[in-house]
This record gives sequence, structure tokens and C-alpha cells, in this order.
Amino acid sequence: MQIKRVGVVGAGTMGNGIAHVFARSGYAVTLYDVEQRFLDRALDVIAKNLARETAKAKITAEQEVAALERIMPVLDRSRLGECDFIIEAATEKFEIKAEIFRDLDRIAQADIVLASNTSSISITKLGALTQRPAQVIGMHFFNPVPVMKLVEVIRGLATSQSTYNVVRDLAIALDKTPVEVNDAPGFVSNRVLMPLLNEAMYAVMEGVATAPAVDEVFKLGMAHPMGPLTLADFIGLDVCLDIMRVLYAGLGDPKYRPCPLLIKMVDAGWLGKKSGRGFYQY
Ligand SMILES: NC(=O)c1ccc[n+]([C@@H]2O[C@H](COP(=O)([O-])OP(=O)(O)OC[C@H]3O[C@@H](n4cnc5c(N)ncnc54)[C@H](O)[C@@H]3O)[C@@H](O)[C@H]2O)c1
Repeated sequence: MQIKRVGVVGAGTMGNGIAHVFARSGYAVTLYDVEQRFLDRALDVIAKNLARETAKAKITAEQEVAALERIMPVLDRSRLGECDFIIEAATEKFEIKAEIFRDLDRIAQADIVLASNTSSISITKLGALTQRPAQVIGMHFFNPVPVMKLVEVIRGLATSQSTYNVVRDLAIALDKTPVEVNDAPGFVSNRVLMPLLNEAMYAVMEGVATAPAVDEVFKLGMAHPMGPLTLADFIGLDVCLDIMRVLYAGLGDPKYRPCPLLIKMVDAGWLGKKSGRGFYQY
């Protein structure tokens, strides 16, 4: 099936980036969220980001206008029934995604693929909620979506080869690089990254080094573009904690125990950059 119209569920940080890259690559996009203000904010962000790409001569002014025109914001979920492919990028809570997947299964045409941009929720579990588990898959973009090249493509236990091929080809059409992984807590990216961030937090908690010192070690010694504590602040400490809990619960190994300092900071409302305070002040 030729994919012409893509549905994006959730117009937050990732949803707006995903809508941006599909529209930029010529796909019509139906962007759905639960409140008008979220859609307005998303279109605002997309317009600014496209304008920045024009200013940097990555796209032309005509492409900028055309991409924006391809995005149709909707509050009526049934409009997703017109889409040839749907990707969900709603809040990272299982109950929210479960409700969405059950409903998408009802609304969407029977032969289309349903993808999730989840960072850590089981694709196998989401697929099992639908009548089409072979057509459910993870399509994990990275933030900021218009810039980052990787798409982690996650096969659930029941995901078919043809579903995998659809998402692989879409990622390539978006000028991204798909990397195939199997469904497991945290997939590859967060399975490996989050314990690094968590361990950096233990180092700070135990007084091994200050946060800036830990970050310097990684920037200068390992050529990381930013240190693990800065990265944790950017991701959001609440998000880091949620993912550590998914790893701990899903893999049952004490090495994934969330750092007590992380738990304390989240309890204090220190969520990183978005709250103005984390390992650094913003
Ligand atoms: N932020 C990141 O760096 C990042 C990276 C990769 C993957 N992800 C994943 O992407 C997904 C979205 O994350 P985000 O950072 O964009 O979150 P966000 O909070 O910025 O946006 C989530 C959006 O989902 C909407 N939403 C909530 N319930 C909904 C529903 N029932 N129907 C439709 N929309 C609904 C919210 O209104 C909000 O606009 C999560 O699964 C997250 O794990 C995030």
C-alpha cells in the first residue's frame, strides 16, 4: 500500500517533531491531540523550526510553506480513519497508550500499521491489545526529531516482516537511519543509556565528584557532546526515573535500581531544564 497520509497521535515534543519530518518529506499529516491549545502550540513550534531550516538553507521557502500546509490538526479522533499509517506519540503512561491502541484498532483501516514512539513500554503488550498484533511495531524517534538521524525500529513478538518493512522504508523516506531491535525493556537506547545516567547520579550522591566534574569527564574523555547529568536534565528527571523503574521492574536485576538522589530530586519537583532546576539551575 502506498502511504500518503500519516496520523500522529499526541502533539507534544515528539509528536510535533514527527509531524514536522513527515510533512517535510511530502506526506500529508493528520495531527491529533486532546486539546486545541496543544495543537496550536505544536503548529507554532513546527512553524518556527521549519523557518529555522529555511534560514539555514536546509529547505527552500516554498518547501517550508508546503510542509506547513500538509499538516492538518484535529481534535476528532475518528479523522485518523483516513490515514494509511498511524504513529502514537502520546504521554508515556501504559493506561493512556492502551486506551489509544484499542481505539485506533477500531478506527483505523484494517490493513494499516500502528506504530508507537514509546521509549520503554512493551510493543508486544500494546500489540496484544489489538486485533492486529502483527501490524503493531515500535518506531522510536529521538529528540530533536528533525535533527537526529536514528530511528530504533522495535519488533514486538508478533510483529510481521511486512510491518517491519513498512516502517524501515518510511524511516529511509524521512532520511533517517532505521536500526532493528527486538522488544525488551528500554529496547537498546534506554537499556544502555539510562543506567549510565543513573550511575553518574550515584557518583554525585556518593560525593565521588560534582555534577560539572562528572560531565567534564564524559565530554573531554569520551567525546560525548554533553555530560550525562546535563543530558538527564534535558531529558527530564521524572522521565529518567520512569524509565529506570521500567528497567528495574522488567528485568528484575538490582543493577537497574533508580538512584535515591534521582527519586529525591523528582519528589522535590526538580525535574531538570523544564522545571528550572535539576543537576543545574536554568
Ligand atoms: N521527549 C523525548 O526525548 C522522547 C524521546 C523518544 C521518545 N519519547 C516518547 O514519545 C512519547 C511522547 O513524549 P513527549 O516527550 O512528546 O511527551 P509530551 O508530554 O511532550 O507530549 C505528549 C502529548 O500527548 C498528548 N496526549 C496525552 N494523552 C493523549 C491521548 N489520549 N490522545 C492523544 N494525545 C494525548 C498530550 O496532550 C501531549 O500533547 C512518549 O511515549 C515518550 O516516551 C520521548
